Amino acid sequence: MAVINVEDIAHVRYSAPDLAAMRAFLKDFGFTTFEAEGKLFARGSDGRPFLHVTEPGPAVFLALGLRAESVDDLALLAAHQGVAVEDLNEPGGGKVVRLTDPDGYRVEVVAGQAREAPGPVPDDLPRNTAAAKPRQRATVRLDPTPSHIRRIGHAVLKVSDFRRSEEWYKARFGFLTSDEVEAAKDVPLGAFMRCNRGDKPADHHTLFLAQLPGKLGILHAAFEVSNLDDLMLGHQHLKAQKRTQAWGVGRHIMGSQVFDYWKDPFGNELEHWTDGDLFTAKDPPQKMPLSALLAVQWGSPNPMFAGKYPPPQGIVSFFLALNLRIRRLFKRNPKESVT
Ligand SMILES: [Fe+2]
Repeated sequence: MAVINVEDIAHVRYSAPDLAAMRAFLKDFGFTTFEAEGKLFARGSDGRPFLHVTEPGPAVFLALGLRAESVDDLALLAAHQGVAVEDLNEPGGGKVVRLTDPDGYRVEVVAGQAREAPGPVPDDLPRNTAAAKPRQRATVRLDPTPSHIRRIGHAVLKVSDFRRSEEWYKARFGFLTSDEVEAAKDVPLGAFMRCNRGDKPADHHTLFLAQLPGKLGILHAAFEVSNLDDLMLGHQHLKAQKRTQAWGVGRHIMGSQVFDYWKDPFGNELEHWTDGDLFTAKDPPQKMPLSALLAVQWGSPNPMFAGKYPPPQGIVSFFLALNLRIRRLFKRNPKESVT
């Protein structure tokens, strides 16, 4: 049994050398932004005090924030880890337990933050389909705006030893595997993991740990927008603002969400997503091939396969599996650092 079951991701924290440039991007991305005590905070409409933090400094990822159900849970976690429950001296207050994962990522587990009443979301217009025509004598007229960010949904971290990190996160925070991704049979490269909320439905993934070649770091953080129209309006807005597109629009296989990835001015990737899968603790884990991670159900192909001469997927899987097998064979604790 895990020490605690976290209820969701809380925030992602970065540092960047130009807060004004980051702020302009985050506004285009659809956040409400504000500065406090020299840091840049970005929030959605879910009433949470912040979802994204930028501190002045070099362009690096600083920390993953997870949300515990209660301050009592934080005390349990702190006692288990031999650390203190500290005051969270940031907008919304609350408490925090600060941990470091096996790859050196900082994990900030928060609870007791003040929460405002959630704001409104744009209306979901009735959709006419071949099967049903609920919208009659009414038009669709959409304002050209950035997307409306509702909440943070998940983060993807590159790890140096998937099994080691999986054990670390599951033992402390109660994550459940939704889909384990294999480069070849019995050669896992990572897993989409969700929060254990018992009978309450939870997002298909809150954390994806991926053992991939190259430098460690966060691969992306993802934010839920209102609906498909809202996502597409956001896409249009970011394109008009000449922001850097990373991948999208498309519909993923694992998690099923419609996605759209963009890069901030410092190279960090952020995702807009809508219409993802929800599961309860009763739903069993699945094993999926790498092809299901790289492919889309519709939409833009993964950038790796978008060029004129895309590598065959089988070759990519083969070399990834080889890399993982070699690492497994010479199991070592790499001295890589994330900062
Ligand atoms: Fe994602």
